[in-house]
Amino acid sequence: MAIKITWFGHSGFSLDINGTTVLVDPFLTGNPLAPVDPNELAADYILLTHAHGDHLGDTEAIAKRTGATVIATAEISYWAQRKGLKAHGQNTGGGYQHPFGHVKLVRADHSSSFPDGTYAGQPNGIVLTTDGKRLYFAGDTALYTDMRLVGNLGIDVAFLPIGDNFTMGPADSIEAIKLIRPKIAFPIHYNTFDVIAQDASAWAQQVQNETDARAIIVDPGGDFTLD
Ligand code: NI
Ligand code: MN
Repeated sequence: MAIKITWFGHSGFSLDINGTTVLVDPFLTGNPLAPVDPNELAADYILLTHAHGDHLGDTEAIAKRTGATVIATAEISYWAQRKGLKAHGQNTGGGYQHPFGHVKLVRADHSSSFPDGTYAGQPNGIVLTTDGKRLYFAGDTALYTDMRLVGNLGIDVAFLPIGDNFTMGPADSIEAIKLIRPKIAFPIHYNTFDVIAQDASAWAQQVQNETDARAIIVDPGGDFTLD
């Protein structure tokens, strides 16, 4: 039993959970760091934090080709159903036991609209509990003190934006780690574009010096395994 976590750069992941493939925010087309061709990706489920183009990404094409079920907030699930995709809608604060694990949507301080500008509901973070581990994909968010409540769930790995400009930056992410108290912190949403360029090694050093978490950094296309 193990979870293999592959990073696509930005906020995108592929999780292999005992043979089930779960994608998170699969932004590949237009992502200068994209390590894979979206046409070659397997997917059983696609989890979305919000509908901005750098998160919704290739969802429609991948779900159409693979038959994957889209799991996201209500408004995004309605969009997916209108596109003829399989979808499961949830909303902030709600959890549901899916075949691959328990998904709870939590608050994210951000905005959300589809690439055409239409309303896409509230943005969310995602807490995924599976295989004895609890993963927190913060999505795009500012630092907020109630992250402590997410931490009270007992987080093994927190995937946190550090890019600044659109989300919290490195300094706020260190404060977030102190509130969330994860075993492992993994930086996302940086270096994709010039405006969110950051020094991940310096950030990892700060995580080590100032928090109890262990920082894990991989290059786009890189992976690590939880077992
Ligand atoms: Ni966003
Ligand atoms: Mn974003």
